[in-house]
Amino acid sequence: MKALKKLLDIIDKASTSHVLSKQEIISLLSTDRIDGQLFHAADRVRAAYVGDEVHLRGLIEFSNICKQNCLYCGLRWENTAVRRYRLQPETIIEFAAKAKDYGYKTIVLQSGEDEFYTVDKLQQIITGIKKLDLALTLSIGEKTRAEYQAYRQAGADRYLMRIETTDAGLYSALHPGMSLENRKGCLLDLKDLGYEVGTGCLVGLPNQSVESLAEDILFFKELDADMIGLGPFIPNEATPLKDAKGGTFEASLKVMAITRLLLPDANIPATTAMETLNKNGRIIALQSGANVAMPNVTEGEYRQLYALYPGKICINDTPAHCRGCITGKILSIGRKISEEYGYRKKNTVV
Ligand code: 5AD
Ligand code: SF4
Ligand code: FES
Repeated sequence: MKALKKLLDIIDKASTSHVLSKQEIISLLSTDRIDGQLFHAADRVRAAYVGDEVHLRGLIEFSNICKQNCLYCGLRWENTAVRRYRLQPETIIEFAAKAKDYGYKTIVLQSGEDEFYTVDKLQQIITGIKKLDLALTLSIGEKTRAEYQAYRQAGADRYLMRIETTDAGLYSALHPGMSLENRKGCLLDLKDLGYEVGTGCLVGLPNQSVESLAEDILFFKELDADMIGLGPFIPNEATPLKDAKGGTFEASLKVMAITRLLLPDANIPATTAMETLNKNGRIIALQSGANVAMPNVTEGEYRQLYALYPGKICINDTPAHCRGCITGKILSIGRKISEEYGYRKKNTVV
């Protein structure tokens, strides 16, 4: 009884002060007794700070070519089992124009770390999309500060780059040739350059502890991230982690709910990977702290080839179908689709 009361007190404290110690986060992550209360608390904080509107971001997966070798990812350089593609700048702009016709206000351009897209090419793409009067988010990995600055000057508004894990040992084991310090430096550069910055982590990586997940959440808070994307690690047959256990839907939902309590005004998506593990995953996430959805607006066969992990949803669907599908889901739970660009509104209680 006493232990339960203590856990509920931690949820109350987080709901009002938006601060928790590492030990308090660990105690929430280490039990499933208070999951219902935790999800409700995150839903209430979401409603109070960011309201009932759900922001839709149209995701264009424009190249599956990547020079990195992250052990968990199907796009890793050494994976020869995936047919690679890259879209030309004109095609990317055309997909963005179509997404605008479907009613999207924000476009997210995502790719592997593909050096084909020089600063010149990206400037062309960014300028073309900004002319359409859309908010633009980039998710194209680690670049130099000068490159980030050039994209920003061309008009890019936001940048997503998950830290993946803040556990230094785990980070270096999973990311050959990459460094946690460099990745953190990129996020700080992006902030400094005036981007809205998104980060996040994978949940359920091999050897990932609840301590390290607590550190991840505290990292989001310390960075004061504008957006936080969280999802379960899903083992991919074509990677060295094919026999790993993988994360669960519930664990990633918990990390997300605690993140909402600590960053009450952040934009938090209900992620595709969550829906891959649970057919109502995005709806449940939207009722446990999330306020954003990122439907795929990539046209044609490409979405099948953007094979980060198996079972990815929507790979045979069209942008029009996904738009209708997600709208139906959001309205079915009494929420609304935002008509705004969906920038973070800091510290406002609705
Ligand atoms: N399972 C779940 N998410 C994955 N990602 C990459 N590989 C996997 C996987 N096997 C995620 C990473 C990356 C994002 C684009 O996709 O977190 O940041
Ligand atoms: Fe490349 Fe990103 Fe996949 Fe790593 S996670 S291999 S950087 S696409
Ligand atoms: Fe793509 Fe539902 S969002 S099929």
